[in-house]
Amino acid sequence: MPASDPLLERRRVASPPPTDPQTRAEALSVAARALRAAEHVCVFSGAGISAESGIPTFRDAQSGLWAQFTPQELATPEAFAAHPTRVWQWYAARRAMVRAAQPNPGHQALVTLASRVAHCTLVTQNVDDLHERAGSRDIIGLHGSLMRARCSAGCPGTMVPTDAMALEPPPCPACGALMRPDVVWFGESMPMPAFEAARSAAVACDVFLSIGTSNVVEPAASLPWISATHGATVIVVNPTMEGQRRGPSILPIEGPAGVMLPRLIAEAFAGRRARRHDSGGAAASRGAGAQDPTVDASVDAADESTPPAA
Ligand code: OAD
Repeated sequence: MPASDPLLERRRVASPPPTDPQTRAEALSVAARALRAAEHVCVFSGAGISAESGIPTFRDAQSGLWAQFTPQELATPEAFAAHPTRVWQWYAARRAMVRAAQPNPGHQALVTLASRVAHCTLVTQNVDDLHERAGSRDIIGLHGSLMRARCSAGCPGTMVPTDAMALEPPPCPACGALMRPDVVWFGESMPMPAFEAARSAAVACDVFLSIGTSNVVEPAASLPWISATHGATVIVVNPTMEGQRRGPSILPIEGPAGVMLPRLIAEAFAGRRARRHDSGGAAASRGAGAQDPTVDASVDAADESTPPAA
């Protein structure tokens, strides 16, 4: 991009280059300053954000009955072709678990974030619906949704499976082929329009907030680093930081999302009123200019002495 690109000009003002924070409190405060100055924030979430809602991360998901199967035996087109009932039942069990779960303070903090910045894009790799149920809107879902099924032979349209524990995949009402979960399986491409929208946001944003993802499944895994090379400040929230890159524009905030995100958003936006957003979104539904009491209240809870919940 040419040096006169208005996006880059704006980013230089909006996101001061991070210093080299030595402690988590310093990292939180540098990250909060970057968020407060940002015009456009791109949030990128993975399974870790739902961990504190009791949904196991993808790599931990096999337990009990399902522990005998590898992800490849449950989440590939080949597995569905060979064992449609087994695959359908696994997804039915996961759907039931998600329906019984609730969004956690990490999901809720992102709703507040969207109401405080001029432009917030939420990209998720998750197939649960906890962001939606927390109140986030206009979500870019890269891997589909557990809550929908579609025709395995490609008929257009989706359905919502109502019988959570249905033993067999139902037939497509149009062609009779089996319905399958509307998720992206290993070996399948993610929907390109969704990925392109996510990539554009990663390139254009001032701050890229990566939460609870191991960054191993490409091409989504590269989004934070694409964003960093285009000049954004990248904030990474993860309790382990395993597999995360380090670098001058990357701010690691080590800890669980349900604890760290409320602290971060409280520090960034204490006292700042919700903005008027043109369409949808939490800010619009709460009313323009409304003061969100959870922001100021959580400032007190943002004391560094509070230990992270595991
Ligand atoms: P993973 O299961 O690979 O990684 C979960 C990440 O969350 C890890 O980095 C954990 O350290 C982190 N984590 C755990 N608890 C956390 C917490 N309380 N707060 C914040 N972070 C926490 O999940 P994803 O990265 O989402 O793809 O996996 C990406 C994709 O890989 C999935 O969508 C799935 C899988 O293969 C498909 O199904 C196509």
